Amino acid sequence: MQATACAHSNIAFIKYWGNRDHALRLPANSSFSMNLGGLFTRTTVRFSAALSADRAVVDGRVLEGASLARITAHLDYARRLAGCTLRAEVVSHNNFPTGAGIASSASAFAALSLAAAAALNLNLSEAELSAYARLGSGSAARSVPGGFVIWHMGEDHRSSYAESIAPPTHWQLIDLIAIISTAHKAVGSTEGHRLAESSPLQAARLATSAARLEQCARAVLERDFERLARLVELDSDIMHAVMQTSTPPLLYWLPPTVAVMHRVRQLRAEGVGVCYTIDAGANVHCLCLPEAAERVRAELSAIEGVREIRMAQPGGGAWLES
Ligand code: PMV
Repeated sequence: MQATACAHSNIAFIKYWGNRDHALRLPANSSFSMNLGGLFTRTTVRFSAALSADRAVVDGRVLEGASLARITAHLDYARRLAGCTLRAEVVSHNNFPTGAGIASSASAFAALSLAAAAALNLNLSEAELSAYARLGSGSAARSVPGGFVIWHMGEDHRSSYAESIAPPTHWQLIDLIAIISTAHKAVGSTEGHRLAESSPLQAARLATSAARLEQCARAVLERDFERLARLVELDSDIMHAVMQTSTPPLLYWLPPTVAVMHRVRQLRAEGVGVCYTIDAGANVHCLCLPEAAERVRAELSAIEGVREIRMAQPGGGAWLES
């Protein structure tokens, strides 16, 4: 009773920030993302009668306390569906260095969900698997399908899942990730989602996010970079406005983050196809057209405080390894 699965990380073009139901991670708005080809988690789950408790090792580190409890709770869902009481061993590796400043919870919970479901012979559809991954980390729902993905907020557990609107081959966008900090976030996203509703700006964000998502999906389908760039930056800026005005306020940006934002805007004004988007951290994802990538990489490398640049292209959905 063992299976190994892999899933890519993803970057949201239209962000998820805030829940309607925290326990089920039912989001306050639908979101849109691109899977990050090349950046993935590989996870093996083995259920065994010889184990007296769940055990999890991530990049060689044995998990304990709250991190292990989160995995146990996630496995419990699959165990309940399968009518299984066996404990499991989870061994997981990220192919990008841990602490590299790239979020791993999306790829981690997508890979864990697929591996657990396969090990228990649960025959879940892609939508069911996506909804399951969502319970572990909201953005993990979007790492199950491939390419360019919409996560429908839905009304309940079953209807809140992600699906692909275009395969990775649809558009060769490049994500150059300017790594500015590899420090562990002071306030993680699970807690951040709870703070969102304390911002007076969250209502305005939610009232306008469905329209942005619709326009963003259209810009991707039509490969309209100019339109996409404006929407992606606007949506990231609005989410950070909410973060910065919540109680307590969350300011994830560092001075080099702002320097990158300025440089990206200047480059676009000069006609270079690039835009920025930032998650709950200081690093900046710079989305660009292939012809702009070399120039953008050189410009980012010249900014003080940018430690490293990682590259990703549109990636496929979660997959099982035999
Ligand atoms: O899946 P979580 O709980 O780590 O939330 C992700 C939140 C953001 O990365 C900030 C936005 C997003 O949509 O990915």
